[in-house]
Amino acid sequence: MKIALLGCGTVGSEVVRLMRMRTTELADRVGETVEIAGIAVRRAGKDRSHLGVADDLFTTDAIGLVKRPDIDVVVEVAGGIEPAKSWITTALAEGKSVVTANKALLAADGPALADAARAGNADLYYEAAAAAAIPLMRPLRDSFQGDTINQVLGIVNGTTNYICSRMSEAGISYGEALQEASDLGYAEADPTADVDGYDAAAKAALIASLAFHTHVDLSDVHREGIADLTPADIKAAADAGRVIKPLCIASRDDDGISVRVHPAMIPLGHPLANVNGAYNAVFIEAESAGRLMFYGAGAGGTETASAVLGDIVTVARNRRSGARAFPPEAAYGERTVKPIGK
Ligand code: HSE
Repeated sequence: MKIALLGCGTVGSEVVRLMRMRTTELADRVGETVEIAGIAVRRAGKDRSHLGVADDLFTTDAIGLVKRPDIDVVVEVAGGIEPAKSWITTALAEGKSVVTANKALLAADGPALADAARAGNADLYYEAAAAAAIPLMRPLRDSFQGDTINQVLGIVNGTTNYICSRMSEAGISYGEALQEASDLGYAEADPTADVDGYDAAAKAALIASLAFHTHVDLSDVHREGIADLTPADIKAAADAGRVIKPLCIASRDDDGISVRVHPAMIPLGHPLANVNGAYNAVFIEAESAGRLMFYGAGAGGTETASAVLGDIVTVARNRRSGARAFPPEAAYGERTVKPIGK
């Protein structure tokens, strides 16, 4: 099976490294060799020798790579709306299954992409789009489909959790903590996506869409960032026996659905108070399953690449068996999101 990898930054280069490291295991698990046959990058000529792949694998012609007849599956880790959307819809229209980590695109255009997957008889998997290494999208798509989820509560942005944690633990300033998070590779290329809450809002929209079987649009999510947090806020919370955490809260009641992301003071005894660094945690409250917690690395190139490789194995197996797990978004009915504050 031949893969086109679109994007070779923090996540993409880890996808390359892990796939090279696990070539034999992946082939055993899938039943055929799985190989990266082309890598689309923004800039040609950059020294990428550390990746250990042939120079002629790299191209700046992403759409040409997607359309190449020998390419079976497309893995998009470039991010952003366009041109990623055109690449993905082109792949799906050609019946090539897609694995993507692109939360912004999925939050903006998830239903259209799901329709394109169905029309092309292709798979669309995106475990890495929210909470990196933590299995969350597929449990929501699959494991909970026989249950009814009423609330999802969590920390879904590693960068802002890292910043809040470091400001609390080490007493450093917001700016210093943000610099550390960027240096560690947690922050987005433009960290305002993290600190202004857009990244968490996109993930919240994906989570709520799957949890509540509707399309929650990015514009439905009430969003507040953490950029205004000061050491005085952190101290005031500590003096009150609390800690400030960047929360995502998605809930459903008889009136409909509400989804919001904002910093919140939570008591020190609450399990989310002890989720520190770039870790994420998500609580799910379901009618029959009860309360479950998913916890783990929510950011980082290697951790996110782990989720991408899991999706690659799944689409490879589906491709071999002829099965397709059409994204459930394709079957969503009317939106049921209520305005915040109602
Ligand atoms: N910038 C994101 C975060 C990366 O900090 O959570 C993972 O989506």
